[in-house]
Amino acid sequence: MPRLVTVKIDGIEIRVPSGTSVAAALALAGKQITHRSVTGQQRGPFCGIGVCLACRVTINGQPGCRSCKVSCQEGMEVITDG
Ligand code: FES
Repeated sequence: MPRLVTVKIDGIEIRVPSGTSVAAALALAGKQITHRSVTGQQRGPFCGIGVCLACRVTINGQPGCRSCKVSCQEGMEVITDG
């Protein structure tokens, strides 16, 4: 059975299996919007392989992180613009 880790997404704690991508954790938390474009359009994960940059979020205070390329770690804090 996989180990579970707790991450905080926009202030809400969620437990996911270790190794889950942040993008997947966002989906599990019902978050479809990761950030907004310079014109205010909503963006969310699209390619899932680190190419489109549509999944950028702030992770542990670091803005612009590709959520599809980062695995959830215990105590991680994720902020979206959703
Ligand atoms: S979904 Fe495209 S870079 Fe993450």
